[in-house]
Amino acid sequence: MQKSKIGNAAVFVIFGGEGDLTRRKLVPALYSLFLDDQLPDRFKIIGVGRDQTTDDSYRERLRQGTDEYSTRGRTDERRWRDFASHISFFLADLDTSRSFEEIKAELAARDDEWGEKANRIYYLALPPDMIRPMAKGLAGAGLNSDRVRDRIVVEKPFGHDLESARELNLLMAEYFEERQIYRIDHYLGKETVQNIIAFRFGNTLFEPIWNRRYIDHVQITVAEKEGVGSRSGFYESAGALRDIIQNHGLQILCLVAMEAPVSVDSDEIRQKKVDVLRAIRAIHPDQIHQSAVRGQYGAGWEDGKRVNAYRSEPGVAPESSTETFAAVKFYVDNWRWQGVPFYMRTGKRLPARISEVSIHFMPVPHQTFAASALLDSRPNRLLISIQPEEGILLRFEVKHPGQQMALAPVMMQFYYREAFRVRSPEAYETLLLDIMKGDSTLFMRADQTEAAWEVVNPILEMWQSVKPTDFPNYHSGSWGPEAADTLLARDGRSWTMPTFLQCSEDLATCRVAKEPLP
Ligand code: BG6
Repeated sequence: MQKSKIGNAAVFVIFGGEGDLTRRKLVPALYSLFLDDQLPDRFKIIGVGRDQTTDDSYRERLRQGTDEYSTRGRTDERRWRDFASHISFFLADLDTSRSFEEIKAELAARDDEWGEKANRIYYLALPPDMIRPMAKGLAGAGLNSDRVRDRIVVEKPFGHDLESARELNLLMAEYFEERQIYRIDHYLGKETVQNIIAFRFGNTLFEPIWNRRYIDHVQITVAEKEGVGSRSGFYESAGALRDIIQNHGLQILCLVAMEAPVSVDSDEIRQKKVDVLRAIRAIHPDQIHQSAVRGQYGAGWEDGKRVNAYRSEPGVAPESSTETFAAVKFYVDNWRWQGVPFYMRTGKRLPARISEVSIHFMPVPHQTFAASALLDSRPNRLLISIQPEEGILLRFEVKHPGQQMALAPVMMQFYYREAFRVRSPEAYETLLLDIMKGDSTLFMRADQTEAAWEVVNPILEMWQSVKPTDFPNYHSGSWGPEAADTLLARDGRSWTMPTFLQCSEDLATCRVAKEPLP
């Protein structure tokens, strides 16, 4: 991992400091950056919350979260104590402007003490409906006024449809300049997602064949094993299309489909991605049932245990029509991709937590070999595995050993952990570091969020107006509703079984744990 310690002092003000995101993701990521000596010498984490607590008990709670969720294992006593000395709790009632004034005074005191103006990162780890009052409150206290050092971070989903995203963008623009706003889609911080750019544009080999002449179709899978868990409050009004496809899924599609950027300048890359979103064919309302499938999990089995149907989860309406599975066929209407389908699927309570991109190449244009040689022959396929293990696998044909000419598929394999023997940083580590550096390449620009909503909006509207009659339509632990298979079968294709990569603890060996490739 490249180390680049930040020079400028930084203060993280986490609104929602008592929440799950802070405990599970933000603080473990900051602790990890601290262990790697990547945080500035002068940094402070201020958790803002409504429930009275002391700094000590707040730190203890965060430590428990870090012990549980950090990829670095349990915290080390001494290192945690050093780290925790930078954390404090700030009791605030965010409905009043007084609280923002108090936060301002606290930040000014910090700058005075350090003799330096710190970068201020206002992290909204709060439900989406809080973005508006928070942005207004910060601006009311003048905490937006330093256009370089004051930064606001918002989590996806940014809005709940096209119209609300536009409104939100306008509102944010009233108070903050675009370069001050960091819209997080944590998938963009994942190493393998970033590696798609390195792989495509750092090699001469793949780019010439990365188009409609050689690629038959692309499959993108973001599968989750877990159910909705304790997040029904959010999920009931979101659903899989808003939660994953509108952001993580489309961002991955953009990286696979974008044109070569001239440089890695943040606006250059973001512009190339917006170009893809704008080229995605609008699905006509009459075509939605042919191009998009929704599903909701029923009861089933997970690791040998009986699990509930979505409608029986705590906080879920007994007649809920929220989709926990979505599959969509997209087309990108430009010279490179005309006619190439991009199939995307996501769902909760599927058999495994697995995210991957599978690029299916065309069959060879002419069969040189006799039919008897081709019994086991298959078109080339490139697999980019995002999680749980990161790797790239290429399937190609070779001669099967023996007197006869017979082709057999084999694969060339690259595993991140095996090749580099290092821990990949967690997505949040990368993203938090980038915010401190002021690098917005991996964050969504306002127009990107709107363009992504434009893509999914017709489906959302149709699904809202026509209630599903067949929910629940897939068992927990299965790969989703039958209609998702039909979506591809109509085109003479099928979903490929995801590839399970697994690495040994010492990272010495990685392998495909279950068959599917070749
Ligand atoms: C979040 C979604 O953005 O991504 C969750 O809101 C989902 O519903 C999560 O579980 C998946 O992230 P990851 O990194 O575990 O694949």
